[in-house]
Amino acid sequence: MTSEHSQSHRTKVTLIPGDGIGPEITQAMVRLLEAAGAHVEWEEKRIARDTGRSSGDPKQSAIVNSIRKTHIGLKGPLTTPVGEGRRSLNVSLRRELDLYANLRPVKKLPGVRTPFKDVDLIIVRENTEDLYSGLEHTVVPGVVESLKIITERASTRIAHFAFEYARKWGRKQVAAIHKANIMKLSDGLFLNSVRKVSREYPEIEYREVIVDNCALQMVMRPQQFDVLLLENLYGDIISDLGAGLVGGLGLVPGANLGEQCALFESVHGSAPDIAGQGIANPTAMMLSAVMMLRHIGQEQVADRIEKAIYKTYKIGRHLTRDVGGNAKTEEFTDAVIGALE
Ligand code: NAI
Repeated sequence: MTSEHSQSHRTKVTLIPGDGIGPEITQAMVRLLEAAGAHVEWEEKRIARDTGRSSGDPKQSAIVNSIRKTHIGLKGPLTTPVGEGRRSLNVSLRRELDLYANLRPVKKLPGVRTPFKDVDLIIVRENTEDLYSGLEHTVVPGVVESLKIITERASTRIAHFAFEYARKWGRKQVAAIHKANIMKLSDGLFLNSVRKVSREYPEIEYREVIVDNCALQMVMRPQQFDVLLLENLYGDIISDLGAGLVGGLGLVPGANLGEQCALFESVHGSAPDIAGQGIANPTAMMLSAVMMLRHIGQEQVADRIEKAIYKTYKIGRHLTRDVGGNAKTEEFTDAVIGALE
Protein backbone atom coordinates (compact mmCIF):
# COMPACT_ATOMS: atom_id res chain seq x y z
CA MET A 1 0.00 0.00 0.00
CA THR A 2 1.21 3.48 -0.82
CA SER A 3 1.52 5.91 2.05
CA GLU A 4 -0.92 8.80 1.84
CA HIS A 5 1.80 11.38 2.37
CA SER A 6 4.06 10.19 -0.41
CA GLN A 7 1.13 9.64 -2.72
CA SER A 8 1.06 11.93 -5.70
CA HIS A 9 -0.44 9.39 -8.08
CA ARG A 10 -4.04 8.31 -8.22
CA THR A 11 -5.02 4.72 -7.45
CA LYS A 12 -7.00 3.14 -10.24
CA VAL A 13 -10.33 1.74 -9.07
CA THR A 14 -12.90 -0.12 -11.13
CA LEU A 15 -16.25 1.65 -10.72
CA ILE A 16 -19.43 -0.31 -11.41
CA PRO A 17 -22.47 1.98 -11.01
CA GLY A 18 -24.85 -1.01 -11.26
CA ASP A 19 -28.56 -0.53 -11.93
CA GLY A 20 -31.73 0.58 -10.11
CA ILE A 21 -30.61 3.23 -7.59
CA GLY A 22 -26.97 2.27 -8.34
CA PRO A 23 -26.12 5.14 -10.72
CA GLU A 24 -27.73 7.73 -8.38
CA ILE A 25 -25.84 6.69 -5.26
CA THR A 26 -22.63 6.14 -7.25
CA GLN A 27 -22.79 9.68 -8.61
CA ALA A 28 -23.29 11.02 -5.09
CA MET A 29 -20.34 9.03 -3.77
CA VAL A 30 -18.04 10.10 -6.63
CA ARG A 31 -18.96 13.76 -6.05
CA LEU A 32 -18.11 13.42 -2.35
CA LEU A 33 -14.76 11.71 -2.99
CA GLU A 34 -13.81 14.38 -5.50
CA ALA A 35 -14.75 17.16 -3.06
CA ALA A 36 -12.73 15.47 -0.31
CA GLY A 37 -9.66 15.14 -2.55
CA ALA A 38 -9.40 11.35 -2.71
CA HIS A 39 -6.54 10.20 -4.96
CA VAL A 40 -8.61 7.88 -7.11
CA GLU A 41 -8.88 7.37 -10.85
CA TRP A 42 -12.04 5.60 -11.89
CA GLU A 43 -12.19 2.93 -14.56
CA GLU A 44 -15.94 2.84 -15.10
CA LYS A 45 -17.63 -0.38 -16.21
CA ARG A 46 -21.32 -0.43 -16.92
CA ILE A 47 -23.65 -3.37 -17.26
CA ALA A 48 -26.45 -3.63 -19.79
CA ARG A 49 -29.18 -1.33 -18.45
CA ASP A 50 -32.44 -2.74 -17.08
CA THR A 51 -31.32 -6.35 -17.37
CA GLY A 52 -28.87 -6.55 -14.52
CA ARG A 53 -26.63 -8.59 -16.78
CA SER A 54 -23.14 -8.09 -18.06
CA SER A 55 -22.50 -8.99 -21.62
CA GLY A 56 -21.13 -12.47 -22.14
CA ASP A 57 -19.61 -14.91 -19.75
CA PRO A 58 -18.60 -13.15 -16.54
CA LYS A 59 -15.25 -14.92 -16.82
CA GLN A 60 -14.59 -12.90 -19.93
CA SER A 61 -16.47 -9.85 -18.83
CA ALA A 62 -14.97 -6.41 -18.84
CA ILE A 63 -15.81 -6.02 -15.14
CA VAL A 64 -13.86 -9.05 -14.00
CA ASN A 65 -10.92 -8.20 -16.26
CA SER A 66 -10.83 -4.64 -15.03
CA ILE A 67 -10.84 -5.67 -11.34
CA ARG A 68 -8.15 -8.27 -12.03
CA LYS A 69 -6.04 -5.40 -13.36
CA THR A 70 -6.82 -2.72 -10.76
CA HIS A 71 -7.32 -5.19 -7.84
CA ILE A 72 -9.93 -2.80 -6.40
CA GLY A 73 -13.59 -2.31 -7.27
CA LEU A 74 -16.40 -0.15 -5.94
CA LYS A 75 -19.81 -1.31 -6.99
CA GLY A 76 -23.43 -0.20 -6.98
CA PRO A 77 -26.12 -2.87 -6.67
CA LEU A 78 -27.02 -5.22 -9.50
CA THR A 79 -30.52 -6.56 -10.02
CA THR A 80 -30.88 -10.33 -10.18
CA PRO A 81 -34.03 -11.72 -11.79
CA VAL A 82 -36.00 -13.91 -9.37
CA GLY A 83 -36.64 -17.55 -10.19
CA GLU A 84 -35.38 -17.46 -13.77
CA GLY A 85 -32.59 -16.35 -16.05
CA ARG A 86 -28.90 -16.58 -15.59
CA ARG A 87 -27.01 -16.77 -12.35
CA SER A 88 -26.52 -13.61 -10.27
CA LEU A 89 -23.65 -11.49 -11.52
CA ASN A 90 -22.95 -10.57 -7.90
CA VAL A 91 -22.40 -14.20 -7.03
CA SER A 92 -20.33 -14.75 -10.19
CA LEU A 93 -18.08 -11.78 -9.45
CA ARG A 94 -17.39 -12.99 -5.92
CA ARG A 95 -16.69 -16.47 -7.19
CA GLU A 96 -14.60 -15.48 -10.22
CA LEU A 97 -12.40 -13.16 -8.19
CA ASP A 98 -12.33 -15.51 -5.19
CA LEU A 99 -13.59 -12.75 -2.90
CA TYR A 100 -14.12 -15.20 -0.10
CA ALA A 101 -14.72 -12.84 2.81
CA ASN A 102 -17.69 -10.55 3.02
CA LEU A 103 -17.25 -7.96 5.74
CA ARG A 104 -20.16 -5.83 6.93
CA PRO A 105 -19.72 -3.39 9.81
CA VAL A 106 -23.12 -2.68 11.34
CA LYS A 107 -22.80 0.48 13.41
CA LYS A 108 -25.31 2.92 14.80
CA LEU A 109 -25.05 6.40 13.29
CA PRO A 110 -25.79 9.45 15.46
CA GLY A 111 -29.24 10.97 15.07
CA VAL A 112 -30.93 7.94 13.48
CA ARG A 113 -33.81 6.74 15.61
CA THR A 114 -33.41 3.03 16.36
CA PRO A 115 -34.43 0.69 19.20
CA PHE A 116 -30.82 0.38 20.45
CA LYS A 117 -28.27 3.13 21.10
CA ASP A 118 -25.07 1.17 20.97
CA VAL A 119 -25.02 -1.39 18.15
CA ASP A 120 -21.52 -2.00 16.79
CA LEU A 121 -21.23 -5.40 15.12
CA ILE A 122 -18.98 -6.90 12.50
CA ILE A 123 -20.59 -9.48 10.26
CA VAL A 124 -18.19 -11.85 8.48
CA ARG A 125 -19.89 -13.93 5.83
CA GLU A 126 -18.32 -16.74 3.79
CA ASN A 127 -18.82 -15.63 0.22
CA THR A 128 -18.07 -18.48 -2.14
CA GLU A 129 -20.04 -21.61 -1.29
CA ASP A 130 -23.08 -22.92 0.67
CA LEU A 131 -26.45 -22.84 -1.13
CA TYR A 132 -25.03 -20.18 -3.46
CA SER A 133 -23.17 -22.87 -5.39
CA GLY A 134 -25.94 -22.63 -8.00
CA LEU A 135 -26.11 -26.43 -8.17
CA GLU A 136 -29.84 -27.01 -8.55
CA HIS A 137 -31.71 -29.46 -10.68
CA THR A 138 -35.13 -30.97 -11.14
CA VAL A 139 -35.00 -34.59 -10.01
CA VAL A 140 -38.45 -35.37 -11.42
CA PRO A 141 -41.17 -32.84 -12.25
CA GLY A 142 -42.28 -31.29 -8.95
CA VAL A 143 -39.11 -32.24 -7.09
CA VAL A 144 -36.04 -30.01 -7.05
CA GLU A 145 -32.68 -30.60 -5.43
CA SER A 146 -30.47 -27.69 -4.39
CA LEU A 147 -26.98 -28.48 -3.18
CA LYS A 148 -25.39 -26.88 -0.15
CA ILE A 149 -21.62 -27.10 -0.50
CA ILE A 150 -19.46 -26.62 2.59
CA THR A 151 -15.75 -27.34 2.55
CA GLU A 152 -13.20 -27.53 5.32
CA ARG A 153 -10.86 -25.32 3.28
CA ALA A 154 -13.34 -22.45 2.86
CA SER A 155 -14.62 -22.73 6.44
CA THR A 156 -11.09 -22.65 7.86
CA ARG A 157 -10.11 -19.76 5.61
CA ILE A 158 -13.08 -17.60 6.63
CA ALA A 159 -12.56 -18.49 10.31
CA HIS A 160 -8.96 -17.29 10.09
CA PHE A 161 -10.20 -14.11 8.47
CA ALA A 162 -12.72 -13.46 11.28
CA PHE A 163 -10.25 -14.12 14.10
CA GLU A 164 -7.46 -12.14 12.44
CA TYR A 165 -9.89 -9.25 11.98
CA ALA A 166 -10.89 -9.48 15.67
CA ARG A 167 -7.24 -9.53 16.75
CA LYS A 168 -6.26 -6.62 14.52
CA TRP A 169 -9.15 -4.37 15.53
CA GLY A 170 -9.27 -5.28 19.23
CA ARG A 171 -12.59 -7.09 19.04
CA LYS A 172 -13.31 -9.28 22.06
CA GLN A 173 -15.53 -12.06 20.78
CA VAL A 174 -16.25 -14.17 17.71
CA ALA A 175 -19.58 -16.02 17.50
CA ALA A 176 -19.95 -18.83 14.97
CA ILE A 177 -23.56 -18.97 13.76
CA HIS A 178 -24.82 -22.35 12.56
CA LYS A 179 -27.60 -24.91 12.29
CA ALA A 180 -25.45 -27.97 13.00
CA ASN A 181 -28.22 -29.48 15.12
CA ILE A 182 -30.10 -30.14 11.86
CA MET A 183 -27.44 -30.01 9.11
CA LYS A 184 -25.08 -32.20 11.05
CA LEU A 185 -22.64 -32.83 8.22
CA SER A 186 -22.46 -29.49 6.40
CA ASP A 187 -22.86 -27.06 9.29
CA GLY A 188 -21.07 -29.61 11.47
CA LEU A 189 -18.01 -29.34 9.20
CA PHE A 190 -18.21 -25.53 9.26
CA LEU A 191 -18.43 -25.51 13.04
CA ASN A 192 -15.61 -28.00 13.58
CA SER A 193 -13.36 -26.02 11.27
CA VAL A 194 -14.10 -22.78 13.11
CA ARG A 195 -13.62 -24.44 16.50
CA LYS A 196 -10.14 -25.63 15.50
CA VAL A 197 -9.15 -22.16 14.34
CA SER A 198 -10.56 -20.56 17.51
CA ARG A 199 -7.95 -22.42 19.61
CA GLU A 200 -5.21 -20.40 17.91
CA TYR A 201 -6.73 -17.20 19.35
CA PRO A 202 -7.06 -17.82 23.10
CA GLU A 203 -7.38 -14.10 23.87
CA ILE A 204 -10.62 -13.87 21.88
CA GLU A 205 -13.82 -15.26 23.39
CA TYR A 206 -15.40 -17.88 21.15
CA ARG A 207 -19.05 -18.89 21.22
CA GLU A 208 -21.47 -20.85 19.05
CA VAL A 209 -25.07 -19.79 18.45
CA ILE A 210 -27.78 -21.57 16.46
CA VAL A 211 -28.95 -19.27 13.67
CA ASP A 212 -32.62 -19.00 14.70
CA ASN A 213 -31.61 -18.13 18.25
CA CYS A 214 -29.11 -15.65 16.78
CA ALA A 215 -31.98 -13.87 14.99
CA LEU A 216 -33.90 -13.67 18.27
CA GLN A 217 -30.87 -12.48 20.27
CA MET A 218 -30.07 -9.86 17.63
CA VAL A 219 -33.44 -8.16 18.01
CA MET A 220 -33.55 -8.56 21.82
CA ARG A 221 -29.98 -7.76 22.87
CA PRO A 222 -27.61 -7.16 19.94
CA GLN A 223 -24.95 -5.66 22.24
CA GLN A 224 -23.99 -9.19 23.34
CA PHE A 225 -22.39 -9.78 19.91
CA ASP A 226 -19.13 -8.45 18.55
CA VAL A 227 -17.91 -10.36 15.46
CA LEU A 228 -20.43 -12.76 13.91
CA LEU A 229 -19.09 -15.47 11.60
CA LEU A 230 -21.57 -17.07 9.23
CA GLU A 231 -21.92 -19.25 6.17
CA ASN A 232 -23.10 -17.54 3.01
CA LEU A 233 -26.91 -17.78 3.31
CA TYR A 234 -27.17 -17.15 7.05
CA GLY A 235 -24.78 -14.22 6.56
CA ASP A 236 -27.00 -12.75 3.87
CA ILE A 237 -30.09 -12.88 6.07
CA ILE A 238 -28.53 -11.87 9.38
CA SER A 239 -26.76 -8.88 7.82
CA ASP A 240 -30.09 -7.47 6.58
CA LEU A 241 -31.40 -7.98 10.11
CA GLY A 242 -28.32 -6.11 11.37
CA ALA A 243 -29.03 -3.26 8.95
CA GLY A 244 -32.57 -3.08 10.35
CA LEU A 245 -31.12 -2.60 13.85
CA VAL A 246 -29.23 0.54 12.87
CA GLY A 247 -31.82 2.26 10.70
CA GLY A 248 -32.05 0.36 7.44
CA LEU A 249 -30.28 -0.91 4.38
CA GLY A 250 -29.27 2.54 3.18
CA LEU A 251 -26.71 2.79 5.97
CA VAL A 252 -24.61 -0.36 5.94
CA PRO A 253 -21.46 -0.66 3.83
CA GLY A 254 -19.60 -3.80 2.87
CA ALA A 255 -16.44 -5.28 1.43
CA ASN A 256 -15.81 -8.50 -0.49
CA LEU A 257 -12.20 -9.40 0.13
CA GLY A 258 -9.87 -11.96 -1.42
CA GLU A 259 -6.12 -12.58 -1.57
CA GLN A 260 -5.72 -10.61 -4.81
CA CYS A 261 -8.70 -8.30 -5.18
CA ALA A 262 -11.26 -6.40 -3.14
CA LEU A 263 -14.73 -5.26 -4.15
CA PHE A 264 -16.59 -2.75 -1.99
CA GLU A 265 -20.37 -2.37 -2.07
CA SER A 266 -23.40 -1.53 0.06
CA VAL A 267 -25.37 -4.31 1.70
CA HIS A 268 -28.58 -3.20 -0.04
CA GLY A 269 -29.84 -4.10 -3.50
CA SER A 270 -30.98 -2.02 -6.46
CA ALA A 271 -34.20 -0.84 -4.71
CA PRO A 272 -36.37 -0.86 -7.86
CA ASP A 273 -39.27 0.64 -5.86
CA ILE A 274 -37.47 3.99 -5.52
CA ALA A 275 -35.07 3.92 -8.49
CA GLY A 276 -34.92 7.06 -10.63
CA GLN A 277 -36.64 9.29 -8.05
CA GLY A 278 -33.48 10.86 -6.63
CA ILE A 279 -34.43 9.89 -3.07
CA ALA A 280 -32.10 6.93 -2.40
CA ASN A 281 -29.81 7.16 0.59
CA PRO A 282 -26.18 7.11 -0.63
CA THR A 283 -24.70 6.64 2.87
CA ALA A 284 -23.97 2.91 2.52
CA MET A 285 -22.21 3.57 -0.79
CA MET A 286 -20.25 6.45 0.73
CA LEU A 287 -19.22 4.35 3.73
CA SER A 288 -18.22 1.52 1.36
CA ALA A 289 -15.96 4.06 -0.35
CA VAL A 290 -14.54 4.96 3.08
CA MET A 291 -13.69 1.27 3.62
CA MET A 292 -12.08 1.19 0.17
CA LEU A 293 -9.99 4.30 0.83
CA ARG A 294 -8.69 2.76 4.06
CA HIS A 295 -7.88 -0.43 2.16
CA ILE A 296 -5.76 1.47 -0.37
CA GLY A 297 -3.95 3.42 2.32
CA GLN A 298 -5.81 6.75 2.08
CA GLU A 299 -6.76 6.81 5.76
CA GLN A 300 -6.78 10.58 6.19
CA VAL A 301 -9.27 11.30 3.46
CA ALA A 302 -11.32 8.28 4.61
CA ASP A 303 -11.45 9.71 8.14
CA ARG A 304 -12.49 13.16 6.85
CA ILE A 305 -15.32 11.71 4.80
CA GLU A 306 -16.53 9.49 7.62
CA LYS A 307 -16.49 12.43 10.05
CA ALA A 308 -18.48 14.56 7.60
CA ILE A 309 -21.10 11.81 7.23
CA TYR A 310 -21.39 11.42 11.03
CA LYS A 311 -21.65 15.19 11.45
CA THR A 312 -24.42 15.39 8.85
CA TYR A 313 -26.38 12.72 10.73
CA LYS A 314 -25.78 14.40 14.07
CA ILE A 315 -27.10 17.72 12.77
CA GLY A 316 -29.95 15.77 11.14
CA ARG A 317 -31.23 18.59 8.93
CA HIS A 318 -30.64 17.00 5.54
CA LEU A 319 -31.41 13.32 5.93
CA THR A 320 -33.11 11.15 3.31
CA ARG A 321 -36.60 9.74 3.59
CA ASP A 322 -35.61 6.22 4.68
CA VAL A 323 -34.15 7.64 7.91
CA GLY A 324 -36.97 10.05 8.64
CA GLY A 325 -35.89 13.14 6.69
CA ASN A 326 -37.10 14.56 3.39
CA ALA A 327 -33.85 15.46 1.62
CA LYS A 328 -33.15 14.21 -1.87
CA THR A 329 -29.98 12.22 -2.58
CA GLU A 330 -28.30 15.37 -3.93
CA GLU A 331 -29.26 17.55 -0.96
CA PHE A 332 -27.89 15.01 1.49
CA THR A 333 -24.69 14.79 -0.56
CA ASP A 334 -24.34 18.58 -0.59
CA ALA A 335 -24.73 18.58 3.20
CA VAL A 336 -21.98 15.97 3.63
CA ILE A 337 -19.68 17.90 1.30
CA GLY A 338 -20.45 21.05 3.29
CA ALA A 339 -19.52 19.21 6.50
CA LEU A 340 -16.04 18.25 5.26
CA GLU A 341 -13.38 19.83 7.47
P1 NAI B 1 -33.24 -3.88 -1.76
O1 NAI B 1 -32.12 -3.78 -0.80
O2 NAI B 1 -32.97 -3.40 -3.13
O3 NAI B 1 -34.50 -3.06 -1.18
C1 NAI B 1 -35.17 -3.42 0.03
C2 NAI B 1 -35.88 -2.18 0.58
O4 NAI B 1 -34.92 -1.26 1.11
C3 NAI B 1 -36.66 -1.41 -0.47
O5 NAI B 1 -37.84 -0.92 0.09
C4 NAI B 1 -35.74 -0.27 -0.84
O6 NAI B 1 -36.39 0.88 -1.32
C5 NAI B 1 -35.00 0.00 0.46
N1 NAI B 1 -33.65 0.48 0.20
C6 NAI B 1 -32.57 -0.26 -0.19
N2 NAI B 1 -31.51 0.51 -0.36
C7 NAI B 1 -31.89 1.77 -0.08
C8 NAI B 1 -31.23 3.04 -0.09
N3 NAI B 1 -29.94 3.15 -0.42
N4 NAI B 1 -31.93 4.12 0.23
C9 NAI B 1 -33.23 4.05 0.57
N5 NAI B 1 -33.92 2.89 0.60
C10 NAI B 1 -33.25 1.76 0.27
O7 NAI B 1 -33.69 -5.40 -1.76
P2 NAI B 1 -34.63 -6.17 -2.79
O8 NAI B 1 -35.80 -5.34 -3.16
O9 NAI B 1 -34.83 -7.48 -2.15
O10 NAI B 1 -33.73 -6.42 -4.07
C11 NAI B 1 -33.81 -5.68 -5.29
C12 NAI B 1 -32.78 -6.25 -6.26
O11 NAI B 1 -31.47 -6.01 -5.77
C13 NAI B 1 -32.91 -7.76 -6.47
O12 NAI B 1 -32.74 -8.01 -7.85
C14 NAI B 1 -31.74 -8.34 -5.70
O13 NAI B 1 -31.28 -9.54 -6.23
C15 NAI B 1 -30.72 -7.23 -5.86
N6 NAI B 1 -29.69 -7.21 -4.82
C16 NAI B 1 -28.43 -6.89 -5.21
C17 NAI B 1 -27.43 -6.81 -4.29
C18 NAI B 1 -26.06 -6.42 -4.77
O14 NAI B 1 -25.90 -5.99 -5.89
N7 NAI B 1 -25.05 -6.57 -3.95
C19 NAI B 1 -27.65 -7.09 -2.87
C20 NAI B 1 -29.03 -7.35 -2.54
C21 NAI B 1 -30.01 -7.43 -3.50
